[in-house]
Amino acid sequence: MVRQLIYTSRVANGFQEEDNLLQSILDVSVRNNATVSVTGMLLFYRDHFFQALEGSAEAVETIYLRVCRDPRHQELRLLQDAPRKSRSFEGWAMCGYNLGPADNEILGVLGLRRGFDPKSISGPGALALLTNVHAVQQRVNLRTPSSIVIES
Ligand SMILES: Cc1cc2nc3c(=O)[nH]c(=O)nc-3n(C[C@H](O)[C@H](O)[C@H](O)COP(=O)(O)O)c2cc1C
Repeated sequence: MVRQLIYTSRVANGFQEEDNLLQSILDVSVRNNATVSVTGMLLFYRDHFFQALEGSAEAVETIYLRVCRDPRHQELRLLQDAPRKSRSFEGWAMCGYNLGPADNEILGVLGLRRGFDPKSISGPGALALLTNVHAVQQRVNLRTPSSIVIES
């Protein structure tokens, strides 16, 4: 069994325009998570983060508590925290994606072109969003400037 935790948060004021925000978070995350066998996905969309963390209960706890104290985001909302039979992001110490208006294909597949309210997303909804973006991202193998893929 693995513990899988999913939360959403909003980027803190002053960090919205930071070019390398997602990339710098991913660099550190890949390094730290790999050492404790935590895997997951971090999506950035419309000023909001959506992140899945999965691994041993202790490792997920440690990382989540550290992430909670990070001043680069606020309004954290825990959406789901439960044991699962298997990982959804096996092999990815942390993969990330900066989803933007230019990602028509992904937005279309997810039915997001007409918009979506990050405040009303459920735990299963967030997991579906993350796994679907991950799947589409791998299928179309996007290499646009807005896409960041880091494999552990
Ligand atoms: C949205 C968000 C997600 C993050 N995810 C992770 C993560 O999965 N793993 C991690 O180690 N740090 C993550 N961080 C960074 C941590 O808050 C913290 O800066 C980092 O773990 C410090 O690592 P260091 O002590 O090795 O510098 C995240 C930060 C933010 C804002």
